[in-house]
Parts: sequence; C-alpha cells; structure tokens
Amino acid sequence: MPQSTPLYRRPAFVFGPPLVMAFAGAILILQSAFGAGQLSLVQTKLNELKETKTPVFSIRNSDWIRAKLDDPNSVFVVVNKHRQINPKSFEPGDLVRVEDSKTLDNSRKLALSVAAAGALEEMAKALSAAGQGKLFLNSAYRSYDYQAELFLGKVKQYGKSEALLRSARAGYSEHQTGLAADVSVPEQGCAILACFGETPAGQWIQENSWRYGFIVRYLESTTAITGYSYEPWHIRYVGKEVARLYHENGMQTLEEFWGLPAAPDYLSATTESTSN
Ligand code: DAL
Ligand code: ZN
Repeated sequence: MPQSTPLYRRPAFVFGPPLVMAFAGAILILQSAFGAGQLSLVQTKLNELKETKTPVFSIRNSDWIRAKLDDPNSVFVVVNKHRQINPKSFEPGDLVRVEDSKTLDNSRKLALSVAAAGALEEMAKALSAAGQGKLFLNSAYRSYDYQAELFLGKVKQYGKSEALLRSARAGYSEHQTGLAADVSVPEQGCAILACFGETPAGQWIQENSWRYGFIVRYLESTTAITGYSYEPWHIRYVGKEVARLYHENGMQTLEEFWGLPAAPDYLSATTESTSN
C-alpha cells in the first residue's frame, strides 16, 4: 500500500490559502481603485458583449450602469448642459494631488479623483516614453465656486455666446467631478488652443488616451451635441473598459455612447441665478 501524503503536504493545503488570500487582495485593490462593484460589472458586461457581438448596447441597457450615469461619484457619470451635477455643489470625496514628476508637471498642485490621477500619471509616462515630451497639467478638479468665477471671466473676455461655447456654467462642468483634466505639452506649443490637436502630442493623446481610461471629450465635429467648441486638451476619465469600448466603436461623444440626447444648450429651466 502506498503511504498517503500527509494533509499538510497536499497541494490544496499548501497552495490553497495563499491563492485565496491573493485573490481576495486583488479584489480589494481593484475595488478601491475603481469604485466598488464597477469593475466587476463592466467585466461581466464585456463578457456578454463578446458572446452577443452587440457592442455598447448591452452595457447601455444595464439598469445598474444607467443609474451610475447620474452619480457624480461614479466614473460613468455624464455631465452636460442638460445634466447638472447632483448635488450641484458636489465635491469628490477621493481627491488626491496629482504627482509632480519628471514626466508630469503638476507645479500648480492640482487634484483629481484618485483613479483619474493614477491614470493620468500612467499616461504621462507613456507619452514621454513615446518621445512626446513632458505633460503639463493646466487644470483638473474645479470647485463649483471656482467654475462660477471662470465662467464669469469668460463672459467678460468674450461675451456671453462665445463664453457658452468655451466654458461650462457652475454645476455643469466635468471638472467638478474630479474626472476631467486639461493638459498640454509646453515644448510643443499651442497650450489650451485648438492647434494643440495638430501637434504630435495632441495627436498622440487623441490616438492613445483611451488606453489609460480617457476620452477626448469635445471634438471639432461634436459642438452640435455637446454645445462646446473643440477642446483637444480636455480629457475625461471614464475607466479603461468604457474607454476601450468607446474607442473600438468609433464613438465621438458620451451622449452617443450612452444613447443620451444631444445637449447643445441649457434647458430653459436653467436660470441665471442658479447657474452663473
Ligand atoms: N471647458 C469645459 C467645457 C468646462 O468648462 O468644463
Ligand atoms: Zn477642461
């Protein structure tokens, strides 16, 4: 009779506990980095998409995800001229200062929501490794009050109709969610100008930012949908899975991606006093 292996030397006994702990650890890390539940749901939906070959529509029709479109704590939130941040004075609870490093200039000491900050740092490293220079963070999280000041400044500088194309009213800016960043590469010029889109760095961002979970939110062709002019410098963090789907399906706006109506103007109920 062969001797049976002692319990403590059996593979299940030796490898089981470390594997269970590593798995639990990975789940905890992913959930804290991405927001509890969001990652696993997107992955489930992606698996469904592979089977049904109906990209976008499957994810779009999930009730769970649709509720997240209204939630400023979610990376799926959609903010536009019809969709005020709720509550309008929302402040993200997970803001962190973006690192100031040899590949990312954050000398302005700006903050983003933690997942967006990590993704931007990762993107800056890749942009620099691709020979495109050092990313500069011009603007990131903006409070309701700061956005109100900026909008007023634009009205004074350009007049109201031009200001509306360039800047969101307070309570309607993606910057208030901590998920949007304005970036430039000073050595390539055209910082915060439409011509940034023609620089190699601007093109690199257009072609590659999805890999890090970002989309370029306001394109030359999308003013009729978003109500904003071309902003090749304004990138919005949506998470890697959504960014990949968005890219693979040739989407140009979040409104199109989620099947939401175009929002070129504020709704008539938006009054001057609540939205300066
Ligand atoms: N410039 C963009 C539209 C903002 O103000 O959020
Ligand atoms: Zn911006």
